[in-house]
Amino acid sequence: MKIKTPLCCLLLAAAFLPVVRGQNNSSAAIPHLEKRGAATQLIVDGQPWLILGGETANTASSSLDYMQPVWPKLARLNLNTVLVGVAWDWVEPVEGKFDFTLVDGLLAQARENQLRVVFIWFASWKNGLSSFAPAWVKADAARFPRARLKSGRPVEVLTPLSDANRDADAHAYAAFMRHLREVDGAQHTVLMIQMENEVGLLGDSRDRSDAANAAFAQPVPPALLDYLQKSKSTLLPEIAKVWNAAGAKSAGTWTEVFGTGSAADEIFQAWHYARYMDRVTELGKAEYPIPVFTNTWIVQPEDKGPGDYPSGGPEPLTLEIWRAGAPHIDLNCPDVYLPNFTEWVALFHRNDNPLFVPESRGDAGGVANAFYAIGQHASLGYSPFGIDNTGRLVVQHPEPGQSGPSNLEDMPLAKGYAMLKQLTPLILEHQAKGTIAAVSLDAKHQTEDVTLGNYTLNIDLRRNRRNPSQVPALGYAMIFALGPDEYLVAGCDVQVIFSPRAAGPEIAGLASVEAGNFANGRWVPGRKLSGDDVLLNYDQAAAAAAGQSGSGLRFGPEGPTLQRVKLYHYH
Ligand code: DGJ
Repeated sequence: MKIKTPLCCLLLAAAFLPVVRGQNNSSAAIPHLEKRGAATQLIVDGQPWLILGGETANTASSSLDYMQPVWPKLARLNLNTVLVGVAWDWVEPVEGKFDFTLVDGLLAQARENQLRVVFIWFASWKNGLSSFAPAWVKADAARFPRARLKSGRPVEVLTPLSDANRDADAHAYAAFMRHLREVDGAQHTVLMIQMENEVGLLGDSRDRSDAANAAFAQPVPPALLDYLQKSKSTLLPEIAKVWNAAGAKSAGTWTEVFGTGSAADEIFQAWHYARYMDRVTELGKAEYPIPVFTNTWIVQPEDKGPGDYPSGGPEPLTLEIWRAGAPHIDLNCPDVYLPNFTEWVALFHRNDNPLFVPESRGDAGGVANAFYAIGQHASLGYSPFGIDNTGRLVVQHPEPGQSGPSNLEDMPLAKGYAMLKQLTPLILEHQAKGTIAAVSLDAKHQTEDVTLGNYTLNIDLRRNRRNPSQVPALGYAMIFALGPDEYLVAGCDVQVIFSPRAAGPEIAGLASVEAGNFANGRWVPGRKLSGDDVLLNYDQAAAAAAGQSGSGLRFGPEGPTLQRVKLYHYH
């Protein structure tokens, strides 16, 4: 029988569904991800969008009065996107009765300030716990069962092994997404959704509820085993190691397939969280299919095992499990407050998982993080946490006890984002071309060689010329290869030496160096730099012995500045 689709459905689908990847030139398409050359980018109104973001404190967005003066401050900090929470409890306080007044108010406030939004769906889980579920869910543990720990005691955490829990969350989420489609399907203020927040079980490596124990004794679902078999040659090493150590089996219980250690528990939890959240996402996408991501509470150095950190979240060990179990979720992202930011983002930017950093720091180190994630890992953007409380994360650093600048515009984040804002068209173009790189340096990691285009760039913390061991606490740079012998560098507290990659005794000299800025995507030259500006080493004998000219780029401490350099060779 031929089924006729009503015209209204066809029109609705045409208006709201993102068109097939690579075929979308319409500014009417809803926000979506698109693979563009070397990068996967967020496309908004037909153009790639770089998130210069910030996340408000968890409950900031529960009060429009509180938020009213916050938005203009965030605009002054040069944010273009704000991550704000929407709790299940705030929109469905009584079962089946939805109230989206708060959501509409947040959208109106964001629009008044020309800001875009990423909503965080705080529902079944927030930092592993179920604090944002409505009281009618929390109070009815018989209908909405809890996870249990080894002690046999329940915790205030919904078990992911319950269809009732999942369906109640999905029902509310679908209503929320239907509402977003109605109020924002044309305007696209909302760019993406974060699904739940830092999921995983705290206090034990796996759920010990009756349902969980029964499932753990069952065979591993064939869907997961098929994924592992099919992806064998590209599996991330963390999961491959666990699976291979138990014999790379294609059938068996969780302990038979993943061993008897806590990794099997963590993988089991990950599978069940992924399946649950995939279903919630799927029903939401059926209403309004904008991109969805997760955020992870990453393993901390002091953690001894899963349960110290939320067990089952998308960690390096379980990223593949999430990809297998949650195909409707577009990307899995890390919250990184640890100093080894560069290592953590690299662990998440693997196997086609695009990077976004939904939570991190907002001080000068945060600016270095933003430059690194965006320049080196084609991140969709960056977002420090606690952004509404600009007296906390943004001002607090780098000197504990000292207050930061009193002007929002002078804060490191505002200056860093101002630079990223002027560079945005160039960043997005070069992310796609694969002609951009970045470094983030500190006392432990003072220097790095970057190979980009026809040169290797040695990027070093800016050295005191008289006493080269004297260096600043941090430095960072984003580099664009503009042509065969031309680069643009945005840097702070670094110096850069160029070496030709071509074989032979070639030395790179500076043909010209200009300071300047981009205005409306066009280079506006400032000072011509030479002499003291570019001198790195008066010891010409040493420089010649090292195959260098002794000159290079030098960036001061005043926040990121731009230099454009043309190079020539001599020998
Ligand atoms: C990480 C969480 O994801 C946030 O919601 C918030 O609780 C911060 N930690 C607090 O630092």
